[in-house]
Amino acid sequence: MPRGVPAKLFPPHLPGLRQEQGPLHRQLYERLRQAILTGVIPPRSRLPSTRTLAANLGVSRNTVEQAFAQLDAEGLLERRVGSGSVVALPEHVRPPDGPVRAPTGRAELAPPLRARGRRVAELPLSAAPSGLLPLTPCMPALDAFPLSLWRRSLQRQSRQTGTQLLSYGETAGWRPLREAVAAHVGTSRGVRCDWRQVLIVTSTQQALDLVARLLLEEGDAVWMEEPGYLGARTAFSATGARLIPVPVDEEGLRVDEGLSRAPKARLAYVTPSYQYPLGLTMSLARRLALLEWARASGAWVVEDDYDSEFRYTSRPIAALQGLGDTGRVLYVGTFNKVMFPSLRLAYLVVPEPLVEPFLRAKSLADGHTALLSQAAMADFMERGHFTAHLRQMRLLYAERRQALLDALRREAGNSLQPVGSVEAGMHVTVKLAGRADDVALVQRAASRGLDTRPLSAHYLGTKRSSGLVLGFSGVDPAALRSAAASLASLL
Ligand SMILES: Cc1ncc(COP(=O)(O)O)c(C=O)c1O
Repeated sequence: MPRGVPAKLFPPHLPGLRQEQGPLHRQLYERLRQAILTGVIPPRSRLPSTRTLAANLGVSRNTVEQAFAQLDAEGLLERRVGSGSVVALPEHVRPPDGPVRAPTGRAELAPPLRARGRRVAELPLSAAPSGLLPLTPCMPALDAFPLSLWRRSLQRQSRQTGTQLLSYGETAGWRPLREAVAAHVGTSRGVRCDWRQVLIVTSTQQALDLVARLLLEEGDAVWMEEPGYLGARTAFSATGARLIPVPVDEEGLRVDEGLSRAPKARLAYVTPSYQYPLGLTMSLARRLALLEWARASGAWVVEDDYDSEFRYTSRPIAALQGLGDTGRVLYVGTFNKVMFPSLRLAYLVVPEPLVEPFLRAKSLADGHTALLSQAAMADFMERGHFTAHLRQMRLLYAERRQALLDALRREAGNSLQPVGSVEAGMHVTVKLAGRADDVALVQRAASRGLDTRPLSAHYLGTKRSSGLVLGFSGVDPAALRSAAASLASLL
């Protein structure tokens, strides 16, 4: 073994070189490369000959030869006929003094971030719901998704547009989809806009992030529904905005409270159709009061209309955006709930003067949203599949909602009281009696395979109600009944 090369690097059978982990020469190359770049094998060390190393490792000489050739091509080895291979680290790469140690203390772990970076790094990371667990809030019925129709839309678009979909697309989105969205939100949600005001984004989350980047700066006050949606909270707090909790009651956001807590706020975030998480609908009087405040003070209103399509007894309530003067409202809708979460398609309708700045912000963020899925979505809408799917999901979710409520009543009696009476949405929120610890209950429920959220986590202030946010849309009535029984047994 040559001087400077730790013996453990070249045991007779290099641990980790395993057939099932891909080509052996690639594994050997990666291991050597890592060792060279981190200084484990110091510069100018001489490596064993390919024959010796192959014999030591129990691999063919050709395997070692290929690994060395790749390192040579990258400038990490100097190979001289007759005198072997020497580690030649390029000038600009300086290995650390001695081998890299695993970080031990907190100081070593803390990355050197700037103020905005630190705010982002401190945000809670929401765990991706693992698909079809019972009670996941806002999880669509993937078991009832018309997959073959969707597949056909994808195939048709891919065939018809040829290479057009393989190139770069417009930042604002695929035009037929923007037009289809403008028509859809106009007729079904009463949103007043031209298709040019529609910007296709990947998610509500991206829309909120763009809003925060353009319309907020550090210290700006933002009215947040209390309790409210965590995704909005994280997007706005990343900019350093001051989040002002504004309580909601059975009529929605208490505009009078907002006015007394922060009259000069820059922005208000609301879910007027089906408040998240309490499931209330904002009254007309409150909507008008909110718009009047925005108009008079020059503030923005962000309307998150995430699951307004689902109302089971009455017609959907028209969007706030279409009421009166629309110049202060940014309207956000998503396909990720109505279709399926991994679709990553949503839309933002902005007042005319904001179109250009939002295009720049979207371009800066990621250029544009993936084209094939946009084209397939437009096709799916133009052929009427989207409206039909919505209609079917309304029936299905109404049935699932009822199944969950019946099961909760039967299994838990009054211990889990649903909040609000609006028959809508993809979740119900239930309150727990007294000061029960909803976080602990959610953890115990998780150990039984149930995916719920604690109501208390949705509050910014210290005055919190204890409860559970329960999704009913993702699984069938039988699964909901057994979930309710399991939950009741934990109370
Ligand atoms: C209020 C609200 N808005 C938006 C979303 C998510 O939308 P997206 O997946 O498009 O970010 C959710 C998800 O639960 C939600 O509760």
